Amino acid sequence: MRIGIFGTGTVGQTIGTKLVSLGHEVRLGSRSADNEKAAGWVKSAGKGASQGTFADAATFGELLFNCTAGGASLEALRLAGAGNLDGKVLVDVANPLDFSRGMPPTLTVCNSDSLGEQIQRAFPGARVVKSLNTVNCMVMVDPARIPGDHAIFVSGNDAAAKRQVSDMLRQWFGWRQVIDLGDISAARGTEMYLTLWLRMMGALKTANFNVAVARGA
Ligand SMILES: NC(=O)c1ccc[n+]([C@@H]2O[C@H](COP(=O)([O-])OP(=O)(O)OC[C@H]3O[C@@H](n4cnc5c(N)ncnc54)[C@H](OP(=O)(O)O)[C@@H]3O)[C@@H](O)[C@H]2O)c1
Repeated sequence: MRIGIFGTGTVGQTIGTKLVSLGHEVRLGSRSADNEKAAGWVKSAGKGASQGTFADAATFGELLFNCTAGGASLEALRLAGAGNLDGKVLVDVANPLDFSRGMPPTLTVCNSDSLGEQIQRAFPGARVVKSLNTVNCMVMVDPARIPGDHAIFVSGNDAAAKRQVSDMLRQWFGWRQVIDLGDISAARGTEMYLTLWLRMMGALKTANFNVAVARGA
């Protein structure tokens, strides 16, 4: 499959490397076509890896991932071009974290709205599925790093898009517990969970953890 990833940071690179290793063609998108981080990634990821602008990645990908800084995601997607997103599944991995006032970060949007919803509203033609934002990127692509069954969430307004992403999470990345939380407004919960995730990382002194969901009959 041809996959476009917006974002040249650790997350975009980690997801990109995993997808290339599975035999997919992946283009990493950036504000500049010759972004240095993306160039380094293309060299190390090997055959199937390429780089370009956000718009290049958007036109290239049949499936798209938003792995940009949350506060800049709307701008990055505008640069990708609304028309280039139309009809495509966009997995939104970003968290709207604001580090401008130091640690711990605050959220640029919360309670009655979320970044996932802002993206879906701004780009109504994109089939936005919020997922993977609740775990560290190494865990995203290799959940077996943590023993036992633990949960990953999907939310979005397009049922077929959520099914496609859920299948991808299971078959490509190895997730066993995929929980569909409903429409894209569920992104409020998974984004606000970051405040708890950050405290858990501090308490556990590692990012290699996740939540398991236990339920009764
Ligand atoms: N670290 C994790 O394990 C983890 C886990 C869950 C979710 N997340 C979320 O995943 C996302 C990516 O995280 P990351 O650490 O890999 O990367 P990041 O540093 O948060 O974001 C890097 C990307 O954001 C783009 N960007 C920054 N400012 C921009 C602007 N003003 N306009 C347009 N684009 C801009 C950069 O573009 P250029 O390429 O042009 O520089 C780059 O591609 C974040 O939203 C993060 O909260 C991270």
